This record gives sequence, C-alpha cells and structure tokens, in this order.
Amino acid sequence: MTENTRNTTVVVTGASGRTGSRVARSAQAAGLTVRPASRAHGFDWQGRSTWAKVLRGADAAYLVYPSDIGAPGAAEAVGALAREAVGAGVRRLVLLSSRGQDRARDAEEALHASGADWTVVRAAWFAQNFSEGPLVEELRLRGELVFPAGEVREPFVDVRDIGDVVVAALSAGDRYVGETIAVSGPRLLSFGEAVAEIAKATGRELSYRAVSPRAYGENLLGFGVPAREVEALVEAFAQLLDGRNAYLSQGVREVLGREPRDFAQFARQAAATGTWTE
Ligand SMILES: NC(=O)c1ccc[n+]([C@@H]2O[C@H](COP(=O)([O-])OP(=O)(O)OC[C@H]3O[C@@H](n4cnc5c(N)ncnc54)[C@H](OP(=O)(O)O)[C@@H]3O)[C@@H](O)[C@H]2O)c1
Repeated sequence: MTENTRNTTVVVTGASGRTGSRVARSAQAAGLTVRPASRAHGFDWQGRSTWAKVLRGADAAYLVYPSDIGAPGAAEAVGALAREAVGAGVRRLVLLSSRGQDRARDAEEALHASGADWTVVRAAWFAQNFSEGPLVEELRLRGELVFPAGEVREPFVDVRDIGDVVVAALSAGDRYVGETIAVSGPRLLSFGEAVAEIAKATGRELSYRAVSPRAYGENLLGFGVPAREVEALVEAFAQLLDGRNAYLSQGVREVLGREPRDFAQFARQAAATGTWTE
C-alpha cells in the first residue's frame, strides 16, 4: 500500500463481471477498500435513485457500462453517473471504454464534461470473451466458434491486465488524470488462431467458422435476442472487426512496466480449470 491508496474506498461497478472482478481483486491486493456496485448490491445503471447510496463517502470509482459502452443511452448514463459522483465528492473516476468504436467516444466525452478527475482505459477485445460469456458455450458444446470476424487479427487483452492498469492508474495520484490509456495483449491473432491456441491448450479439436455480420445477426434473432440489440451488435462488430484494430497498444507496458499477458498463457490457465471441457 502507498500513501496514495491508504484509506481509499473505490466503488467498483460490474464487480461480479469480467473486468470488475479483476479490478476488485487488484484493488484489494493494492490495499484499497472495494465497494462492489451492481444490481446484486442495490446499484442499477438504469435506476438513478440507486446511485447516491453507493457513492456516499467513497473516494474513487471504476465505471463499466454493462454489455456495450457504445449502446444507445450509455453516454447519457455515464455522464449522469459521473456528474452525480463529482457532486458527491467522488472525483476520481476511471471508465472502461473500447478501442476503435466510434460510438464509445460519446460516453468518453460525457465523462470529460462531468468535471471529474477522469481516466479512460480503452481496451482491445478481451481474451476472456472466449472463456466467460456467450462464446464459451459454443466452443465447449459444439467444438466450433461461428463468428463474423473473417481473418481479421486482434490483440486480445487479458482482463487481469485491465484490472492491474485500472488500479495502478487509481493509485498513482494525478499521474493519469485526463489521460486515455489504450491496452492490448502483446500480439495479433486472428479468431482462428485464437481458437487454435485454445485447442492446443485443451487437447480438443476446435474450429472457427467465419460468417458475415448479417448472417450472424440472423442467428442471434433465431436465438431470441431482441432485434434492436442485434442491430446494434451487428453494427458494432462490423466496425470493430474491419481491420482498424489490428495493431498493438502499449498501455500495459507504460503503466505497469511489464509485458501484457499472452493469449497462450490465458488459454493454458483457463483450460486447466476445465473451461472448455467440462
Ligand atoms: N468484451 C470486450 O471484448 C470488450 C472490449 C472493450 C471494451 N468492452 C466494454 O466492456 C464493458 C463490459 O465489461 P465487462 O465484460 O467487464 O462487463 P460484464 O462482465 O458484462 O458485466 C457484468 C457486470 O455488470 C453488472 N450489471 C449488469 N447490468 C447492470 C445494471 N443494469 N446495473 C448495474 N450493474 C449491472 C453485473 O452484475 P449484476 O447482475 O449483479 O447487476 C456484473 O457485475 C462494455 O462497456 C463493453 O463495451 C468490452
């Protein structure tokens, strides 16, 4: 623990989710007091009356908007929560955003305009999308991932690195205030190559089949996903997966002074817990 983090209480939204759980773990390891905030803890992004209680007396907050930071209504909600936090004296805010997604910029700008001491962490695709969330079931049950990513390459980032970067930024005084930190893994992999890494780690035959965004959207409609959500997802995937994100970002190295975790390490560790086999 440093002088900066002693007696610091950080509100962690999405604390049971992919990034929030890692932010909470890293924060506890750094000596911060974690206040988890999700619907299970009485905090709802969609219910403003639930915000004040969770913010009261805290020093900082990690903001993760559920599901998609580019979703309709996300920027308004991020702006409103950030303003309420500042009003409650919780000035130090770190927002999770995404690389190469035009619609995510509205939420970032709403945060900038809130008067907070802000930091934005723009992340690449999570490695954990393959192990926690909808993709894991396809791989585990069907042995095949059907996804609209073509042969595009992406530097998948391990969410544990996101947790470490968020907490390092929160613990560094003013160093990262007003900064946008882009984080990725250490190498580019196509979705097919990522599935091959998982196959190697599990010893199972697993494959990847590329489909068009439209065909993927029709699949989702068939599974009962609401049309509005499908439309937003198809648009987001078409943009995120058009090659614009096929480059590495240096945020993990710059903030943590070490290499980002590699996808093969992630795959071996998740395979060892039976993620794609049990
Ligand atoms: N996936 C990617 O590759 C990627 C890459 C870059 C950026 N992002 C961004 O990352 C964000 C998602 O992050 P994540 O994967 O860490 O989240 P996640 O795991 O999907 O979030 C789930 C968490 O959010 C809580 N939650 C869900 N709905 C809520 C609501 N209405 N109010 C309050 N809490 C709610 C859940 O707990 P309860 O059920 O208890 O509420 C749970 O703790 C999105 O903004 C996305 O755009 C994702």
